[in-house]
Amino acid sequence: MKKALLGFGGFLFVVTILQVLRYYTFNGDMYFPEQKETYLAHQFGLYLHITGSTLAFILGPFQFFPKLRQKRMQLHRNMGKLYMLGVLVGSSAGIYMAPFAYGGFPTTMGFLSLAVISLFVTGMALRRVKEKRIGLHKEWMVRSYACIFAAATLRLYLGTFTVLSETGTIDLELAPAYIAISWMCWVPNLIVAEWIINRMRNQSDLSHVAANSTSAA
Ligand code: HEM
Repeated sequence: MKKALLGFGGFLFVVTILQVLRYYTFNGDMYFPEQKETYLAHQFGLYLHITGSTLAFILGPFQFFPKLRQKRMQLHRNMGKLYMLGVLVGSSAGIYMAPFAYGGFPTTMGFLSLAVISLFVTGMALRRVKEKRIGLHKEWMVRSYACIFAAATLRLYLGTFTVLSETGTIDLELAPAYIAISWMCWVPNLIVAEWIINRMRNQSDLSHVAANSTSAA
């Protein structure tokens, strides 16, 4: 189950990167057609958003590799600083882009909430590591990447919507679907993050019990 989830997450990760990298051809024709004019009018904000967010999106998973942390702590620290910079730039530019989002006010609120929450949880991760509270730092990083992974879940839902509507399975306009997706792409991710954090806490409790019983023996 864990392997299947990681495999599916890895697949979404690669597909998202390939899709986002197309933006660096700077060809306006492959912009989301409904938003082409908006994107052409706000190219600086859009590219700042994509560049910062993609940096965080790519670096994030490597920060969770235990071997990298154990063997190359300096690399982990440097990548962590770049990750935080990516979130700061990407989410701040996300706040700038949110009022222009497709679907109007409800979509704006969905993306705006995501941007503010991602800045908050990433800031908490930074604060906890500065206090050397590593367990809590890890927990806030799980929440942070759950927010950043919204880019992948958004594309999963949008792709599913496109297939379902093109095959006539559902009869729904893009605008209401996009409004729902602007919330669905991150709220469930944060619920999954809390589930992962709970598991991490239980595992660390178990290893403490095991360590105590070994030292008592
Ligand atoms: C904190 C998380 C994020 C927030 C708040 C956010 C916000 C936004 C907003 C408001 C838009 C404009 C949407 C519209 O026109 O309707 C947008 C578009 C875009 N974002 Fe993000 N985003 C986030 C994460 C990411 C990440 C991690 C990536 C890259 C991996 C990314 C890549 C893009 C791209 C390529 C677009 C252009 C439209 C598209 O192809 O979907 N975003 N984002």
